Amino acid sequence: MVGLVRDALASRGARRSRLERAASIADLRTRAQRRLPAAVFDYLEGAAEDEVTARANKAAFGEITLVPRVLRDASKVDLATTITGIPVDTPILCAPTGFTRLFHPAGENAVAAAAARAGSIYTLSTMATRSIEDVAAVAPEAPKWFQLYVWRDERLVDALIERAKAAGYRALCLTVDTAVLGRRERDHRSGLTIPPRASLRTVIDGARRPAWWWGFLRSDELLLANVASHAPKGTGRTGLAELTNKQFDPAVTWEAAARIARRWDGTFIVKGIQCAEDAQLAVDLGAHAVIVSNHGGRQLDHAPATVRVLPEVVAAVGERIEVLIDGGVRRGTDVIKALALGASGVMIGRAYLYGLAAAGEAGVDRVFAMLHAELRNAMALLGTPTIADIGPSTIRL
Ligand SMILES: Cc1cc2nc3c(=O)[nH]c(=O)nc-3n(C[C@H](O)[C@H](O)[C@H](O)COP(=O)(O)O)c2cc1C
Repeated sequence: MVGLVRDALASRGARRSRLERAASIADLRTRAQRRLPAAVFDYLEGAAEDEVTARANKAAFGEITLVPRVLRDASKVDLATTITGIPVDTPILCAPTGFTRLFHPAGENAVAAAAARAGSIYTLSTMATRSIEDVAAVAPEAPKWFQLYVWRDERLVDALIERAKAAGYRALCLTVDTAVLGRRERDHRSGLTIPPRASLRTVIDGARRPAWWWGFLRSDELLLANVASHAPKGTGRTGLAELTNKQFDPAVTWEAAARIARRWDGTFIVKGIQCAEDAQLAVDLGAHAVIVSNHGGRQLDHAPATVRVLPEVVAAVGERIEVLIDGGVRRGTDVIKALALGASGVMIGRAYLYGLAAAGEAGVDRVFAMLHAELRNAMALLGTPTIADIGPSTIRL
């Protein structure tokens, strides 16, 4: 009996941590859901209206098959590539996400640090809860992009551009799919405000999610770190939709985008392209890359899955500028399918947020480790040991 207990205790000590036991992004999603208050998880996971586009983003990857090629030397698999002239160790980049500290107090800095370790690029959102300068100081040598929303206040836009330039961000990524905020019904139902407000519901929820609340209450105030001087600190009582619809400029046009590109005067990326015609307009204004994105299905529901739009955008502009894609990437094989269709890289949003919410910085490291292991495994089985080997013949539509 004593022996049995001793063995059990020893095996408990040796038991792999929960994080190590997570085998896929879906497992990390489950852990994130357990840790986060329901309203916060819904903000992370939710999308517009019936969430058709968000589901389609993922499902469309499942409809593309891979063509394994055998007896090709797969002893050395290499994920290195170049994106907008920046050498990277991986084609997987971090998409911008607002309010990142809501998911874990380590927030943007943790994601930027993990991205740097992975040899990736981190994109900081205008709606970040850490400042442009703070995040620039995380692994300062690691390449970072800054994502811009067009606020009504032009001075604020110009000030953000100057700060990002001074802090050494390597590209400006203008998000163009947010003339107004998509109708996210989960947030309406939950009444999410940022920072979360004390109510009977939050108190009850706090008892069920003590680890999250403990981290939240101990960390410094959750602020929109880069726009707080010109705009409200958080969402106020009315929530995110009211805040963005009040502050973002719905009258923004391609001329305004051109003005911003000129002012930035460096690598300029347009995020939120969903058809060939708009990709062409982005080329006309001098963009160096476009990101085919529907904001993870969070803006217009029934917009097409991004991987379905990718071929027409690549056909229209792929010879002149780089095309990236995001939306629904949860597996290494998703990355391969996007590259095979002509993307030079993919971005992940929710995937790294699941890791962050589950286990902070280590969780984001785990996301990169998992996706890279999947990517290497698939590249070996496909007989495409380098990123350049992946092409149209790697997939069957
Ligand atoms: C919680 C959350 C916040 C986001 N915030 C921003 C943002 O501030 N700016 C932006 O351009 N896109 C934002 N996005 C969209 C992402 O950049 C990206 O397009 C999307 O997450 C990709 O889909 P995926 O989550 O399925 O990977 C956000 C997405 C999520 C899930």
